[in-house]
Amino acid sequence: MDLINEHIVWHPHAITRQFRERANGHKGAVLWFTGLSGSGKSTLAGAIEQTLAEMEIKTYLLDGDNVRHGLCRDLGFSEEDRQENIRRIGEVAKLMVDAGLIVATAFISPYREDRQRVRELFEANQFFELHVATPVDICEQRDPKGLYKQAREGKITHFTGIDSPYQEPLQPELRIDGRQPIADSITQILHLLKTQQVIKT
Ligand code: ADX
Repeated sequence: MDLINEHIVWHPHAITRQFRERANGHKGAVLWFTGLSGSGKSTLAGAIEQTLAEMEIKTYLLDGDNVRHGLCRDLGFSEEDRQENIRRIGEVAKLMVDAGLIVATAFISPYREDRQRVRELFEANQFFELHVATPVDICEQRDPKGLYKQAREGKITHFTGIDSPYQEPLQPELRIDGRQPIADSITQILHLLKTQQVIKT
């Protein structure tokens, strides 16, 4: 439900994103990791955050499982709830980009339309969709939380990749092979951030 009306007026503040970006020495941006459960999103998001932090870049990591303990604890895994989950994360990521951070997000975000809506919140070169393309059979073999097994046994329903869809990105900024060494993926992501002038070379 959208309750925004003419009595709610946008207030421009003195300290702008551009000011913060100048102070930080890099731009704000979102690294939006998307992929199946067990594809390696959280691991990669954590690894790039650590790499950037070591370069004295200001970052924040938003992770699906953690956010569902707080901000999104009222949401489940129906199509509507996932849509609302991704909408909220998109808005939080936007605030963080406004604060000048490079935000790494790790959510399955299975629906193209939901990811597109988030993309539209941002300017060009602020939003990077990174598809962690690990085949479902590999994710199921890894099964780090034992959830695929439970989904196969019918103990969990609407499980992405089993009885709920995952719509692959058609034109992600980067498609990452989830089976390659993490260091190779980090090199790819750093290259992207440099060529898009988010961080200095
Ligand atoms: S999303 O689809 O709304 O983007 P999100 O990334 O927040 O999902 O949460 C996914 C995590 O919740 C998975 O990594 C897994 O640990 C857990 N999970 C629990 N039930 C399900 C389910 N039915 N489908 C997918 N993930 C689930």
